[in-house]
Amino acid sequence: MNVLVVGGAGYIGSHVVRALLDASHTVRVYDNLSSGLRRNLQPEAEFVHGDIGDALALRSAMRGIDAIVHLAAFKAAGESMIAPEKYSINNISGTINLLNAAADMDVHRIVFSSSAAVYGEPEYLPVDETHPTNPTNYYGFTKLEIERIMAWYDSLRGIRFAALRYFNAAGYDTQRRITGLEQNPANLLPVIMEVAVGRRPALKVFGDDYETVDGTGVRDYIHVTDLADGHVRAVDKLAEEDRSFTVNLGSETGLSVLQIVEAARNVTGRPIATEIVARRPGDPARLTASATQARETLGWTARYSDVESLVRTSWFAYQQLLA
Ligand code: WQD
Repeated sequence: MNVLVVGGAGYIGSHVVRALLDASHTVRVYDNLSSGLRRNLQPEAEFVHGDIGDALALRSAMRGIDAIVHLAAFKAAGESMIAPEKYSINNISGTINLLNAAADMDVHRIVFSSSAAVYGEPEYLPVDETHPTNPTNYYGFTKLEIERIMAWYDSLRGIRFAALRYFNAAGYDTQRRITGLEQNPANLLPVIMEVAVGRRPALKVFGDDYETVDGTGVRDYIHVTDLADGHVRAVDKLAEEDRSFTVNLGSETGLSVLQIVEAARNVTGRPIATEIVARRPGDPARLTASATQARETLGWTARYSDVESLVRTSWFAYQQLLA
């Protein structure tokens, strides 16, 4: 199929592009390079430098396209509470532009990058897709709103969507082909890697008095190679069956902050200093996914999301900073 990957130069997007190419799809990347990187562009994929706000450019990028994978969004939950306008424009308005262009250009399949942030504070674990949706940050709200808008475009315009609710994306391509590092990361694994290479003095551990295995926060880390595989399966599924669906993509395994630090010390051989600081407001103690739906709908299961693979593949990417 001819697939347009909007946001295909970003961290997750570039892995999705790689997986689509590996599965013999033809790929066109559309990205404004605001956080995406040129070095993430794959030589076999066509590149269109454009913004999701540019309705005309979006329309022309959709010529000859069979399916869209949409990952163009701002994703910093904390920032979304300080600068909501930015998230309204890029995430919500941008997606409306994209859906309108798709309707106009007769593209009827969209795989959308959603998030576990749509659930908010978990009421039970593991979180399945029927869990109530009460986002606790504006970022999560934008993802939920987009899911709702897509449901209307499904019934009114026949655009079928796959909403993939990612848990904590981490790691790098298991075949080491993608090495573009995120700038100013705030997520746990890249921060640990920056400590390992000496870019930061220590990892600030946000609280060690949670009711968890060792007091630190527990999350469901899903390897980006597994996520990418989920997107390829979702594209194929939308082509096979004329029906929208929403699934979690998670490993179904909880890892604490200190368990990841320990694994990172073993893999990197570096001390990785930690400093216990106050809890970060809004952080739940534990968040883990049920991936039953993804298994049943897509035949998908996480294969590389063990702590060792998460850390090892990240370390390979970050070692370039030591070269
Ligand atoms: C993971 C764990 C922290 C950094 C966020 C977004 C969410 C989604 C994924 C996009 C927690 C702890 C972290 C640090 C730490 N984004 N931590 N020190 O908060 O689970 O989810 O990214 O969809 O919407 O909110 O991920 O990587 O920030 O934190 O102790 O410097 O690591 O408290 O327990 P989070 P994270």
